[in-house]
Amino acid sequence: MSALNLLKEQGKIRAIGVSNFSHAQLAEAASYGRIDSLQPPYSLFWRQVEQDALPYCIENNISILAYSSLAQGLLTGKFALGHKFDPTDNRAKNKLFQGENFERAQQALEKLCPIALLHNCTLAQLALAWLIAQPQTNAIVGGRYPKQALDNALAAQIKLSAAQLAEIDAIRRIVTDNLDDSQIMWNC
Ligand SMILES: NC(=O)c1ccc[n+]([C@@H]2O[C@H](COP(=O)([O-])OP(=O)(O)OC[C@H]3O[C@@H](n4cnc5c(N)ncnc54)[C@H](OP(=O)(O)O)[C@@H]3O)[C@@H](O)[C@H]2O)c1
Repeated sequence: MSALNLLKEQGKIRAIGVSNFSHAQLAEAASYGRIDSLQPPYSLFWRQVEQDALPYCIENNISILAYSSLAQGLLTGKFALGHKFDPTDNRAKNKLFQGENFERAQQALEKLCPIALLHNCTLAQLALAWLIAQPQTNAIVGGRYPKQALDNALAAQIKLSAAQLAEIDAIRRIVTDNLDDSQIMWNC
């Protein structure tokens, strides 16, 4: 932290960020200097950060830069049940793409479709609009092609009402209520 603090003082960096830190790790790091952002896995279907670091971030004005914000593409709805990833693709080990989790995700996505239709947007855009409506939260989205990046950016234009945010949040429970408390999204 002392090296980072020095770089900030010298104006060579504007912010100091950490990734995959717990609340306890953030608090410890903060005792050595200001932490500006946390990069955790966070999406409609992966919510563990809300139970741990998010309240601390809100309290201390630390920005959340959510990664795997589309649950590695699951939230686009483009993967049908039975889809098999190449073993070299890290989605092959993502718990959300496996067994009953994957089935529940399909059920939830089906229920999200009418809300996306209402907004004339894709499921991916709906999931990102929900995410960036959460306190302190920005989304890092892993677009592979220019068109994906352009489509994803349009999510910023979608305005969801409080009732719609609550409806979307209720639907995601189909998936998240059946996950364990592990912070790690991938099987080893
Ligand atoms: N700090 C960390 O520990 C950490 C860990 C993981 C990731 N990250 C960062 O976070 C970024 C994003 O995370 P992520 O790649 O794991 O997950 P993600 O953003 O949830 O998903 C990325 C995948 O979603 C699909 N996708 C994205 N936009 C799409 C669209 N408009 N239409 C259809 N499919 C779309 C693409 O799948 P296809 O490839 O099938 O087209 C892409 O590979 C990474 O690039 C990385 O920089 C950080």
